[in-house]
Amino acid sequence: MSDEANDTSHSKHASGADDGRRGFLKVGVGVLGAGLAGVVVAPALRALLWPLAEGVTITSGGEDFVVVGKRDQFGETPIKVDIYADRVDAWNRTKNVKIGSAWVVVIEGKLHAFSSVCPHLGCAVDYDGATGKFKCPCHDSAFGLDGSHEEGPSPRGLDQLEFEQPKEGKLVAIRYERFKQGVEDKVKV
Ligand code: FES
Repeated sequence: MSDEANDTSHSKHASGADDGRRGFLKVGVGVLGAGLAGVVVAPALRALLWPLAEGVTITSGGEDFVVVGKRDQFGETPIKVDIYADRVDAWNRTKNVKIGSAWVVVIEGKLHAFSSVCPHLGCAVDYDGATGKFKCPCHDSAFGLDGSHEEGPSPRGLDQLEFEQPKEGKLVAIRYERFKQGVEDKVKV
C-alpha cells in the first residue's frame, strides 16, 4: 500500500474515532443535562403536584372492608397484614396499591386489628416477640398487646381499625383508615 493510501486510511480511522468521541461526548452531555434538569425540575414539579398528591382519594378499600385473610390464620401472636386498594388521583386510577398495614391479633378469643402507624409521628410500629409488646423504633413508644399505650411519647394507644367480626373459617375484612398523629384523641383524617 502506498504512503498516500496509508495516510488516507489513518485519517479515516482518526476521523471515525473523532466521530465516536464526539458522539460519546454528545450523549454524555445530554445525559448530564437531563440529570441536571431533573434536579432542578423535580422539586418544582413536586411542589406543583403537591396539592393533588395530598388530595389522592382511595375509591375502594379506604371506604370498604378489605379481606386480609382467614379467621383461623390469626392467633395470639400478632400478624401484620398489608392492605391494598385502588388509588385514584386527578389523572390516574392505579389498581391494587398498598395503602397501609395492620396488626391483627386474637386476645381471649376476640379478634383485634390495629393500624401499624404510630400515633406519635407516624412511624411503623413493630411487634417485639421477646416482650410481647408493640414497639415503635423511632422514639421508643411501647404498646400492650391490646394496643394500650405503655411507654414513650405517643399521646394515645394504637388505633383500632374496624373489621367485620367473622365466624371461624370465614374471611377477615378490615376497613383501613388514617388518624391524626400527635393528639390524644383518635381523630379520623
Ligand atoms: S413516631 Fe412512634 S414514638 Fe415517635
